[in-house]
Amino acid sequence: MHSNFKKIDDDDVLFFKKVTSPERVISEDSALKEYGSDETEDLCFPPSVVVQPTTTEEVSAVLKYCNDHQICVTPIGARTGLSGGALAIHGGVGLSLSRMNKIIKVDEKNGQVTTEPGVITQVLQEACAEKGWYYAPDPSSKGSCFIGGNIAENAGGAHAVKYGVTKDFVLNLEVVLANGDVIWTGANTLKNSTGYNLTQLMVGSEGTLGVVTKAVLKLIPLPRHQMLMLVPFYKAEQACQAVSAIFQAGLMPSALEFMERDAIDFVLQFLDDVVVPVEDAVQAHLLIEVDGNYPESLMQDCEKMMEVLAQFDCGDPLFAEDETQKNQLWKMRRKVAEAVKSHSVYKEEDTVVPRYQLPTLLAAVKSIGSKYGFRSICYGHAGDGNLHVNILKDALSDEQWNEMLPKAITEIFEQTIALGGTLSGEHGIGYVQRPYMHLAFSEIELALMKSIKGVFDPNGILNPGKVL
Ligand code: LAC
Ligand code: ZN
Repeated sequence: MHSNFKKIDDDDVLFFKKVTSPERVISEDSALKEYGSDETEDLCFPPSVVVQPTTTEEVSAVLKYCNDHQICVTPIGARTGLSGGALAIHGGVGLSLSRMNKIIKVDEKNGQVTTEPGVITQVLQEACAEKGWYYAPDPSSKGSCFIGGNIAENAGGAHAVKYGVTKDFVLNLEVVLANGDVIWTGANTLKNSTGYNLTQLMVGSEGTLGVVTKAVLKLIPLPRHQMLMLVPFYKAEQACQAVSAIFQAGLMPSALEFMERDAIDFVLQFLDDVVVPVEDAVQAHLLIEVDGNYPESLMQDCEKMMEVLAQFDCGDPLFAEDETQKNQLWKMRRKVAEAVKSHSVYKEEDTVVPRYQLPTLLAAVKSIGSKYGFRSICYGHAGDGNLHVNILKDALSDEQWNEMLPKAITEIFEQTIALGGTLSGEHGIGYVQRPYMHLAFSEIELALMKSIKGVFDPNGILNPGKVL
C-alpha cells in the first residue's frame, strides 16, 4: 500500500531498542505476522517492527521519535478487535501495550480502579470483585481482550443494557499524544463539567488521537445474585418484539441477548461441552438475566417477565439452576462469533438501532439477504438494539462475494440509518467500516472530525487509515 510514511530502517530499530530494551523490540517476520491480525475476518497487515513499552515515558519517547521521523504507529492491544482497528495497514511501528499490564490501584473507598491498558478485562473485573466492586462492561472476549482496547473501541458487551458501555465507566485517562506530550484528560470524579470533555473524546477514538497509558475507571457495588433464563421463540421477529415490551413493562434486565436459530446451531456444534436441547420449530432465543441483591425481588422480576413473554409465541424458558448451568449458557452466547468464524468466510456488521426498531432491522437484513442471495446469522445485544449481522460466504464464488458484499452492506447500513440507527454499536469503525462513514455523517460532520484529528495528530502518524 502506498504511503508517505518513512520506512523503518536499522537506525530506527536501534533507537527503539535503546529507549525500551532489545528483547522488547520484535522484527522477525514470523512474529510480525502474528501481530498483523486481530479477530477481523482473515485480514493480515503486519507492522514493520513491534515495540513493547513498559512505561508511559517509553511510549512518549517512541511517539516523539516517530512523529519527528514521520513513522506511522498502530497501537495494538490483545488483537481481539472486530473492525481491524489494530491492524498496521501502512506497516510502521506496532505499539504493543501488552507489557503495560498492571492494575495500579483498586480504590475501595472511592469505588474506582486505576489501571494500565494491557490488563485483561476479566482479570480487572475479578480483582475488583474480590473487593466487592463491579466493573460491568464485558465484551464476549473479556477473557482475552485488554481494557485499553475496550477504551479505544468503546466496547460494550452483554451487561451494557443495564450498566452502560465502556465510556460510562471511564473517569480520567493518561494519554500520550502523537508528539510525545503526556496529558490527563479530566479528573478522578464522578461528575465533571470543567471544560471540553477530552476523556470522552478519547474513548472510542480507536488509537487515532493518542495512546492511553493509564485509565481511572468507575466501579459500582457488585450485585450479589443473578437469575438467567433462555427463552425459545417460534418466530425470530417475535423474539425481537418481546425486547421492547420487557422494558415497557417496567423491567430492567441486566442482560437481554438475542440469538437466531443458526447462531445456536453453529455454537452447539462448535462447543463439545455445552448441551442445550432445542426443538425443531424454534427460530430464535432470548437469553435474559436479572440481577440484584435480593433473590425474592429477582423472583418477582422473573414472574413479571413471564407475564410479558406470555403475550408472545414462545416456549417454556429454561432457568439456569446453578452456576455451572449459568456459565454454560453464557459460554454458548459468548462463543457465537468464534463458531461462525470457524464455519465459513464471513463479514460481520455491528448495526445498532433504537430498541423498538429491532424487529424491522432484522426483517430488512433478511430481505436484503434474499435479494443478494446470502445467508446471514444475526445475534447480539437486543436490549441495546445492537444486532451483529454475520454475512456468510457459504458457496458463493469469490467473484459473486466481492461484487455483492459492498452493495449489500450499503443497503443494510442505509436501512439501519433510516431506522434512526448507526454503523457500529460496539466494534468500532476501524479499517473495515471506514468506507461507509459517509452514510452516517455529512461532509460537514466528517470535516469536523478530520479537524479534530489534525489538532491531536498534525502529521497523521497515529493509526492511519482508520475511522476517517
Ligand atoms: C459478541 C461480540 C461479537 O457480542 O461483540 O459476541
Ligand atoms: Zn457484541
